Amino acid sequence: MHSLWEKSCKIPGRESLLGDEKTDVAVIGAGMAGILIAWALQRQGREVVVLEAGRIAGGQTRNTTAKITSQHAMTYGRLIRTLGEEKARQYAQANEAALEEYRRCIARYGIRCDFEQKSAYLYGTEAEVLQAEAQAAASLGLPASFVKEVPLPVPAAGAVAFQRQAQFHPLKFLRALSDGLTIYEHTPVHVVDGDLLDTPHGTVRANQIVFACQFPFVNFPGLYFARMHQERSYVLALEHASQVDGMWIGAEADSYSFRNYGDLLLLGGAGHRTGENPPEGCYDHLRRKARQWFPQSREVACWSAQDCISVDHVPYIGRFSASRPNWYVATGFQKWGMSTSMVSAMILGDLMCGKQNPYAPVFDPGRFELEALPGMAMEGGKAAKALLRRFFQVPGETARQLPSGQGEIVRLNGKKAGVYKDQDGSIHAVKIRCPHLGCQVEWNPDEGSWDCPCHGSRFDCQGHRISGPAQEDLPHG
Ligand code: FES
Repeated sequence: MHSLWEKSCKIPGRESLLGDEKTDVAVIGAGMAGILIAWALQRQGREVVVLEAGRIAGGQTRNTTAKITSQHAMTYGRLIRTLGEEKARQYAQANEAALEEYRRCIARYGIRCDFEQKSAYLYGTEAEVLQAEAQAAASLGLPASFVKEVPLPVPAAGAVAFQRQAQFHPLKFLRALSDGLTIYEHTPVHVVDGDLLDTPHGTVRANQIVFACQFPFVNFPGLYFARMHQERSYVLALEHASQVDGMWIGAEADSYSFRNYGDLLLLGGAGHRTGENPPEGCYDHLRRKARQWFPQSREVACWSAQDCISVDHVPYIGRFSASRPNWYVATGFQKWGMSTSMVSAMILGDLMCGKQNPYAPVFDPGRFELEALPGMAMEGGKAAKALLRRFFQVPGETARQLPSGQGEIVRLNGKKAGVYKDQDGSIHAVKIRCPHLGCQVEWNPDEGSWDCPCHGSRFDCQGHRISGPAQEDLPHG
């Protein structure tokens, strides 16, 4: 499935790394974060090489809804309560500064990327809760207020409005920005050992290394797998639907998002933890809503995104680990990858050049204090449950009973296996043990993939790795 952005913008291909290189900085990942970080460092005179496992913007950047905003759902009241006003202000101001930096960069380089100033709205059914959030955000200097009007086909008592936010076409922006950077595509980094990055056909030695690859694949040190999980969400692009004049998201669970791109309406929702697919089907769910709310509409594209969620809902941007002083990381962006990618570029652009950054403390990956422990324990509990399923879950069907076009964990030759039956009736069997840390993968009927509920690795119906933290394919079953 191809997003609207992919369908309307092609980024020229780059060569793979062949041979050995030395550089000042190596960035792993050529999504929005990796490209912005590389660009920020190169502007300061650093020599930078970007290593990308697939294509430029081929991960989550092509699947975003492309909102650049400091409006991050129900965030600011919670941040003030849990981290205190100073850190909540750092978070808020970092995101506003990121928005400003996008504006400056787009104007300065004349980047044609359909950038539009829009308000961002958080709608909900409880007016007092929204008013409190608007007040909390405004107290941190954000352009927030409560409004009663919600021109959407959903029940709502009002919304928190953030003025002067923005939306754009992420690939058009990235195509322009990546132009002057050294990027190797189809160059997955398998091992990072000190200052050496190992790829299939070459190595890079770098003074500093940045992990900007969505989910860091190195387990130790850092333990990022114990402090993040991944969630999926779905989008339909509809023609002949409404103009909603702004970017709208719901404050409550199971709510929807709305924004326009030209004449199209992007309807988002049906989110869930990766590997825990609801039986009703996520695209079908959104299609039912589209028919109900916009009966004249027609679907022109559909796609899904996957987001890393940190235990305290604040991204990890800074030094990777105390024991690796030359490694840096930018991850855990939740659903706010566009603004947080620029925040990452601003913070790492300073820290890696030996400067202080005023926003860095709140995003410091080394912040693990007592308040994060309940979240970490919960991540561990969910992972343990998925691990145990591999041993105790009884398979529901045999391969013969499986309908064509579907996958299931079945008994095959007396053993549990993940089996996909294609339209010709041929069987593709994989082992159900995730190569990352051994949890049981689950079939995702919406995408036709095997997804891991522990840390969100994904594999196609034949077991080929789609995304990490796993680095290998699922073996044949
Ligand atoms: Fe960690 Fe599968 S992604 S065990």
